[in-house]
Amino acid sequence: MEEVARALAASKSAVAFTGAGVSAESGVPTFRGAGGLWERYRPEELATPEAFERDPDLVWRWYKWRQELIYAADPNPAHLALAELERLGVLKAVITQNVDGLHRKAGSRRVVELHGNIWRVRCTSCGREFPVEKPVGEIPPRCPICGGLLRPAVVWFGEPLPRGAWEEALSLASSADFMLVVGTSGAVYPAAHIPRIAKRNGAVIAVVDPGETALDDIADFKIRGKAAEILPRLVAEVRRCLT
Ligand code: APR
Repeated sequence: MEEVARALAASKSAVAFTGAGVSAESGVPTFRGAGGLWERYRPEELATPEAFERDPDLVWRWYKWRQELIYAADPNPAHLALAELERLGVLKAVITQNVDGLHRKAGSRRVVELHGNIWRVRCTSCGREFPVEKPVGEIPPRCPICGGLLRPAVVWFGEPLPRGAWEEALSLASSADFMLVVGTSGAVYPAAHIPRIAKRNGAVIAVVDPGETALDDIADFKIRGKAAEILPRLVAEVRRCLT
């Protein structure tokens, strides 16, 4: 831990790359591994354009359930630790695969959402996008402008990532000298290219996860444990290095 903290404190352009595991201690279920959402639901039935085409009500019932779960969730010490690292001037940005908005809620300012955000909806007819403050009411929700079918503004399997977010993540990964990879199985592309691009550009890679991940092969440091336990300790060590 001390070695990671020293390297992180000495970095000039550190970036975090997070997945569902960083929100696990906020009570938001992960997708893979024990108790993961994909153990109970089939992603191709809920998180694909074809699924939405086939049964928008079913897909919206699932997303409304996730919105309700996330609405009740608070950022946990892991989110707060990453926001603190940004305030300390150590972390330049958080690149996240999560759609729960908890990094911003924790105070992180520069957050790149590769997979969109569950608190935004998009009209499938006129293309307009709207923020939503709370879980949707009627299912399926309708566009207030044209009456078209609204969908969650999240990235489904087989869909392209938001162009702006991808470009920004690429630019951050290309200039990062340290990448803190937290709570991701590293199983899903193109998102999982980001830590590999950082590695190829010479960044030190630290992986925080209680288990194995598909990114362990590029890890210079592997800290086994829960993000809400590890990250606050890491921040405390970084603070000691900065004084
Ligand atoms: N702290 C840190 N990591 C944890 C914790 C925890 N408390 N609990 C679980 N993890 C780890 C798991 O060991 C796993 O490696 O978090 C990771 C979660 O992996 P996934 O469930 O696959 O989530 P993620 O990597 O974000 O999935 C990527 O896949 O389903 C799509 O679009 C969805 O954005 C998601 C993408």
